[in-house]
Amino acid sequence: MQIVKTAQALSQALASQNAIAFVPTMGNLHAGHIQLVELAKTKDACVVVSIFINPLQFGANEDLSNYPRTLDADLEKLKAAGVDIVFTPSEQEIYPDFDASTNNTHQSIKINLPSIANELCGAARPGHFSGMATVVLKLFNLVFFNGAKTKIAIFGKKDFQQLFIIRDMVKQFNLPIEIIASETKREADGLAMSSRNGYLTPAQKLEAPSLYRALGLLVDTVKKGNADFASLEAQTTQFLTQLGWIVDYISIRSAETLLPATSADLKLVVLGAARQGTTRLIDNIEFTLRSH
Ligand code: PAF
Repeated sequence: MQIVKTAQALSQALASQNAIAFVPTMGNLHAGHIQLVELAKTKDACVVVSIFINPLQFGANEDLSNYPRTLDADLEKLKAAGVDIVFTPSEQEIYPDFDASTNNTHQSIKINLPSIANELCGAARPGHFSGMATVVLKLFNLVFFNGAKTKIAIFGKKDFQQLFIIRDMVKQFNLPIEIIASETKREADGLAMSSRNGYLTPAQKLEAPSLYRALGLLVDTVKKGNADFASLEAQTTQFLTQLGWIVDYISIRSAETLLPATSADLKLVVLGAARQGTTRLIDNIEFTLRSH
């Protein structure tokens, strides 16, 4: 496994590659990330993983400095998973005008996203998705603009809104990149794997799977024909609040447009974000209704 830190070294390492399967990450890797790598490895391509904690996608009230940095352990996991190249750029490498004393990227040109980026997770995290999309585009440029014909990028479905925005960006910017989505990897009790699970106390960890269970109950009710989505969202919010969650949102959306679901939609997704203490967890379930 080759570890490269600069764009130039990455370019050299990838020069002879005809096919690249890329998994962007912010490190602190868990089995969910390794599942993305395993999917990449089925693609008969050079498997590239980036580890970059992107300052541009953190809000002013979000603690970038406390984000877990576990590079040695991450590299061990990626080596064991059979990754070919790991790209671990510095902030300066990604943001040429980066100011380390203030963590300011000075990235004045950013991806301007549609209003959907200000809903759901975007409502609580202003600017997050623009910062995320901007760095993903930069990483795509650095990884894929080295002559490879086959360009594949892999993202997890747990971050459904992120995946939706990236797919839209790739389409609207005519990027010749295939985006592949990987199913959410779960613990045995249903909890979606996330770097944030590490922040949970033992008691919170026991409660955490109830978010997924509540979304599952919501899906069952919609599948039974209840289309009063606003009431169902409110009931699920109340149910979780009674269990001690601080609910950010529970929302039933079209899986195709991510707009609030209507009774005409058949491909749906329920999404939820809620806090156990200070730890904010997200989850979602995609499902299809038989025609009305
Ligand atoms: O999902 C993540 O870890 C990040 O948002 C990503 C896609 C690596 C961009 O920083």
